[in-house]
Amino acid sequence: MNNVVAKALSEQVNKEFFSAYLYLAMNQHFEDENMPGMANWMYQQFLEEQFHAKKMLKYLNSRGVKVDLEQIDKPQVKWDSNMEVFQHVLEHEQYVTSSINNIQSLAVDEKDFATMNFLQWFINEQIEEEENATNLIKQLQLIGDNGYGLLMLDKELALRNFVEPVVE
Ligand code: FEO
Repeated sequence: MNNVVAKALSEQVNKEFFSAYLYLAMNQHFEDENMPGMANWMYQQFLEEQFHAKKMLKYLNSRGVKVDLEQIDKPQVKWDSNMEVFQHVLEHEQYVTSSINNIQSLAVDEKDFATMNFLQWFINEQIEEEENATNLIKQLQLIGDNGYGLLMLDKELALRNFVEPVVE
C-alpha cells in the first residue's frame, strides 16, 4: 500500500478513537446533567466511533499495514449548555469530514484506487453524521427554554441504539 496514504489513514484511526473519547466525555456531561436520553445518544456515538476505528484498522491490516497506536488526547469535559454540546458535535464532525476528504485527495493523487473505494463509505457516513448534528441543533433552537420540549427530545434520544455491523 502507498506509504503516504497508509500514514494518513493510520493517523485517522487515532482521530476516530479521539472522537469516541470526546463522545464519552459528552456522555458523562449529560449523565451529570440528568439528561439520560442525550447521555445515551452520546454513548451510542462513542460505540459508533470505535467501529469506525476498527473498520480502518481492519482495512489497513488487510493491505499489510501495521498501525502503531498513538496517545489519545484528553477531550473537552465541560460545556455550558445543551446547545453548546451539540454545536461542538457538528464542528467536530465537520473537522472529521475534512480530514477524511484530505485522505481521499491523497489517495487520488497516489492513484490508490482500493483506498478511494474504501473511503467512499466514510464520505457517505459523514453526510449522515453532520446531518444528525444539524437536525439536533435545529430541534434545540425550536425548543428554546421549553422544559416539556426538552423532555420529549431527551426521551427520543434515549431510543438510539447502535448495532455494530460486521467489519468486512
Ligand atoms: Fe467517525 Fe463521527 O465520524
